[in-house]
Amino acid sequence: MCGIFGFIGNRSAAPLLVDGLRRLEYRGYDSSGIVVKNGSLQVHKKVGKVSELSKILPDHIEGNMGIAHTRWATHGGVTDFNAHPHLSEDGNIALVHNGIIDNAKGLRKRLQERGFELSSETDSEALVHMISIGIESGQSPLESVRKTLTRITGTWGLCVLFKEHDLIICARNGSPLILGQGEGESFVASDPHALTQHTQNFFFLEDGDMAILTKDRIEISRLEGGISSTSMTVVEDEWGQADMAGFPHFMLKEIHEQPEALRRCIAGRLDMANGSAKLGGLRLQPLRLRTVPHVRLIGCGTALNACNIGRLAIESLARIPAVAHVASEFRYNDPVINPNAIHFAVSQSGETADTLSAVKEIQLKGGDVHGIINVVGSSIARMCAQGVYIHSGPEQAVASTKAFTNMVASLLLFAIKIGRTRTFSREKGQSIIKDFEKIPELMEKYLSNPGPIDEAVELVKNAKSVLFLGRGLSAPVASEGALKLMEIAYIPCLAYPAGEMKHGPIALLEDGSPVVVILPNDKHRQKTIASMHECRARGARIILIHEEGDDEAAEEADVSIPVPPCNYLLSPLLTVVPTQLIAYRVALELGCDVDRPRNLAKSVTVE
Ligand code: AGP
Repeated sequence: MCGIFGFIGNRSAAPLLVDGLRRLEYRGYDSSGIVVKNGSLQVHKKVGKVSELSKILPDHIEGNMGIAHTRWATHGGVTDFNAHPHLSEDGNIALVHNGIIDNAKGLRKRLQERGFELSSETDSEALVHMISIGIESGQSPLESVRKTLTRITGTWGLCVLFKEHDLIICARNGSPLILGQGEGESFVASDPHALTQHTQNFFFLEDGDMAILTKDRIEISRLEGGISSTSMTVVEDEWGQADMAGFPHFMLKEIHEQPEALRRCIAGRLDMANGSAKLGGLRLQPLRLRTVPHVRLIGCGTALNACNIGRLAIESLARIPAVAHVASEFRYNDPVINPNAIHFAVSQSGETADTLSAVKEIQLKGGDVHGIINVVGSSIARMCAQGVYIHSGPEQAVASTKAFTNMVASLLLFAIKIGRTRTFSREKGQSIIKDFEKIPELMEKYLSNPGPIDEAVELVKNAKSVLFLGRGLSAPVASEGALKLMEIAYIPCLAYPAGEMKHGPIALLEDGSPVVVILPNDKHRQKTIASMHECRARGARIILIHEEGDDEAAEEADVSIPVPPCNYLLSPLLTVVPTQLIAYRVALELGCDVDRPRNLAKSVTVE
């Protein structure tokens, strides 16, 4: 979703701004722009990728301060005019904004009545004109932004640059903004890993914070007045250069990184001696685990699919009710919160607005939330202040892969921990831990010989729709496979628990319809095979993801993709991988932009 980068110092700003935008590219956007101050404010903006913007930039742009933006359209179409930065009418103030201004319609109308000519259809442009009114009436830059923000409702992460002042004003409410302090230079970005190459000294702005950035100093105050308590954090987590390590796409690289990422996630957390798991970031004592009434897991998209695996594992191992919730629905359904329950907010980015609002709702009602998060220091991680970092490392492709497997792994670790406290013996725990240790190696084994993915691609690439089926823990795996193929190859996909298929989706099947069946060797196997037969009887072509050695099932498939045998509880960590490869290869065949699919954003920071 929209990205912001800003710089003030002694170096040339333009190359830093463009590099900052490139680092934000993975978030998904449709246009980008920069403004650099050099006497006047020089704005350049363009629809398309950052490379399109680069093409229209002059060879050299003088100036040591500027702000930049990648836009994901919410108000107004994808046009050069609607791209940020927006300028005041006199050209003396430039603004970039992430978020949504709810009362923009009224504000735009009032500005037009005052004689302003708005040059875009965006909600954001209104802000720059309101700030200019404040400046003309003699207010300081900070005051003009403050007064403007007190008149708007909505969310913002914004930066403002002034022709007459050597500073950048920033403000946050609901859209992430991080400040970085270097030697004689200051930075701002909407994403910490756009900053890590420049400095480790971060200020994570809180909602309601405002800041003045000069090259030597960062001053943070509150929107309502007074000094903010936001202090500097030294971040050692280096996300490194976004390089592809020889892979043609980030998605493929990240699929192949899964064994290593999983090793990082489980390192030091498998407690073989006790047949349990060590999760130091969870503030949950054994007594609490024994008496907790239920567990709720909340997330969106891939994270929601991971939650659904987590809830089944928790319920099965700990014999305690567990429910997964769609984050975007959660807050609006006025949920009943039990303060003794355990809540998990699951998110790769830690910035997803829907999940963040769910966390706020739970906390507001006295509930306790733990994060299952990838990005260290992200908004949800800070808001929960307890939980588990999944340690996937940077995930650049919009389609999540290695974050999914590590979310699942983290939730399985929790399921083992709570299960061991409540229901099962040390010996049973040890046997699961022993199996868990082997999974990274089994993933490697599978990836070194992924089976007939090409044949599956042939069946899928021209299909009108694809049905994904699984039962038990494999039902959410089916959902994840469907989401992946749909989001990057734009093929309509439907995922169903296999037994439910005959209650509706079976009507879609005709001669040649591809059906992907997830079939680990678990207690559901026979039933899933029966569903597969029902599909075959209607002419469907079966792509079967099954346990190696299950020849009886494999013989019935049109394409059979074996994965190494493992404990059924851990099977989602392996069975999901072929679905990722199928989605990747189909998208390539169809000429889609694998890493940056249309309309999607990596980090969805608006509700
Ligand atoms: C995953 O492939 C998707 N792009 C998307 O569903 C994603 O999982 C969702 O937006 C949640 O993101 P989060 O994990 O950063 O909260």
